[in-house]
Amino acid sequence: MTTIDTTKLGTTGPVVSRIGLGGMSMSGVYGKADEKESIATIHAALDAGVNLIDTGDFYAMGHNEMLIQRALADRKREDYLLSVKFGALRGPNDSWGGFDGRPAAVRNFLAYSLQRLGVDYIDIYRPARLDPNVPIEDTVGAIAEMVQAGFVRHIGLSEIGVDTLRRAAAVHPIVDLQIEYSLITRTIEERILPTARELGTAITAYGVLSRGLLSDSLRDRRPFAPDDFRAHSPRFQGENLTANLRLVDALAAIAEGHGATVAQLAIAWALSRGADIVPVIGARTAERLAESLGALELTLSEDELAAIEAAAPADQVAGTRYAAPQMALLDSER
Ligand SMILES: NC(=O)c1ccc[n+]([C@@H]2O[C@H](COP(=O)([O-])OP(=O)(O)OC[C@H]3O[C@@H](n4cnc5c(N)ncnc54)[C@H](OP(=O)(O)O)[C@@H]3O)[C@@H](O)[C@H]2O)c1
Repeated sequence: MTTIDTTKLGTTGPVVSRIGLGGMSMSGVYGKADEKESIATIHAALDAGVNLIDTGDFYAMGHNEMLIQRALADRKREDYLLSVKFGALRGPNDSWGGFDGRPAAVRNFLAYSLQRLGVDYIDIYRPARLDPNVPIEDTVGAIAEMVQAGFVRHIGLSEIGVDTLRRAAAVHPIVDLQIEYSLITRTIEERILPTARELGTAITAYGVLSRGLLSDSLRDRRPFAPDDFRAHSPRFQGENLTANLRLVDALAAIAEGHGATVAQLAIAWALSRGADIVPVIGARTAERLAESLGALELTLSEDELAAIEAAAPADQVAGTRYAAPQMALLDSER
């Protein structure tokens, strides 16, 4: 088994691999996924020393959790950590219906997730978004009761802002905040990251590849399938995509000089921001995963990191990270 560097997640959290694996794209968010390949990717991750696997109960309505159960059936429970998001309400036609953070809903979501994942505890449990109708103290308080009862080990949050984070941390330690953070999405640096550091909360960074933009995979401008998230996401539309791919070209020139890929450069940059930043990378194939893990071998000097930041300045990215209705749901953007 390869050894991957590890880090402690927050002041009170578990020891995790420096890079985690996100399961979302294995349930069709970026186009179709192949079940066998997805399971092989999860196995390859564990075999490489990745121990953090992130999912959401709403990723294709439980599909992702059941896939993860099948992939992990023959693995020892102590060899992996499950990070699970809950709270998003779905409809049978794939629709979205807001978020539910009520204590009774927390217990209900958890009971179903434990069943679908085939485990008797979840390592890190987190509401996917703030429910604007429920005080965060109530949601986190309900998860804390589940910690007491042994069904959950640690509490995390997702896409919340500093006030909510402080209120939540006053109820129970928050081991990590899962939030978008990349070379071209650096909003957290101003207030959220310093507050998380003050409170001993790590960042599990998603979108480190900006959903595939910061890689070589979209440079051929193949059209997205209609159900691909990116078909409707501002950064991937027409002139925005053209402008953003110019940043990728600039990064590609630097990557070449390092014998690396754009994705590796983007991940290495995120890793360089601190041991408390844990990139959770989405991959559907073992090849992509291996490429991403290659970022751990890349050592960049301060000058090289500055050159990377100059090649793709966050203020030059065209388009917001979500479409307006989804942006409005982000407590972190208030
Ligand atoms: N808390 C939240 O609100 C939230 C939101 C979104 C995601 N997440 C979590 O974070 C995880 C990661 O997010 P994400 O998947 O949206 O973003 P991401 O890691 O930035 O991007 C994933 C995309 O990059 C591509 N990719 C991965 N490795 C690559 C490589 N080495 N070279 C080229 N392309 C590569 C993937 O392609 P393939 O699919 O073809 O492999 C996929 O299209 C998700 O799986 C999920 O668990 C959380």
